[in-house]
Amino acid sequence: MAKQKSWTADQLDPSRMPRHVAIIMDGNGRWAQKKLLPRTMGHRAGMAALKKVVKACDELHIPYLSVFAFSTENWKRPITEVDYLMNLLVEFLHKELQELHDHNVRINIIGDYTVIPRQCQVEIDQALEMTRHNSGLVFTIALNYGSRKEIIDTVKCVVEKIQAGQLEPEQIDEASFSAMLYTHNIPDPDLLIRTAGEMRISNFMLWQIAYSEIAVTPTLWPDFTREDLIKSLLDYQNRERRFGGLSK
Ligand code: IPE
Ligand code: IPE
Ligand code: MG
Repeated sequence: MAKQKSWTADQLDPSRMPRHVAIIMDGNGRWAQKKLLPRTMGHRAGMAALKKVVKACDELHIPYLSVFAFSTENWKRPITEVDYLMNLLVEFLHKELQELHDHNVRINIIGDYTVIPRQCQVEIDQALEMTRHNSGLVFTIALNYGSRKEIIDTVKCVVEKIQAGQLEPEQIDEASFSAMLYTHNIPDPDLLIRTAGEMRISNFMLWQIAYSEIAVTPTLWPDFTREDLIKSLLDYQNRERRFGGLSK
């Protein structure tokens, strides 16, 4: 049998690394189902995968990593699963915060986390406060995030500014609108990875991914490793980004 090809960091071109990698971490439930485990165990295994991917991004000097952890639509799931996910996030921050801080990681949250359990909010605020001056990897967690809600919130912000006389309609352009999105302090993703094979965006960063390269892998999120990340990065480096222009 042919030896499986391996992907290592030395195959990467350091001059063509993406600035921002965004990941739709999907497939935790299917991972658990395959192993005849409860879905919650899939989420727990997903947390372990996340820890490794954050470390890998830091080591590969990727400046921005964003992950979709909980969508505005995920409230449709059974309350027990939602609770488990929230508690898992608290646990993740609790266990990993010091190490992330030691690695100079700045934690950033997008999405309305004021509606999630109090304990969760406290943990998040501590993580934001502790890491706010860090200058390393910017690690954004999209939590109770929905891109349509973000766009609507931004439109409301625009209207309020106009009504308050702080903004003229002529001043609204792509740059000024982007500067009012939840993602105002991070660049648009260069590479969007979705695990577990689904060919859809599921309401994630609709505005921001206008020109992102998309990589869908069949690998379920809990099985996603540093090597899978490198494979996606190599794939990205083989793409030609034309932004509507012509080939060089
Ligand atoms: C991703 O895994 C985690 C969240 C959406 C919170 P899923 O829980 O969606 O796993 P599948 O898609 O059911 O396998
Ligand atoms: C997208 O996964 C949301 C997150 C990864 C947090 P879903 O599992 O919720 O997406 P759909 O329902 O398959 O579109
Ligand atoms: Mg899913």
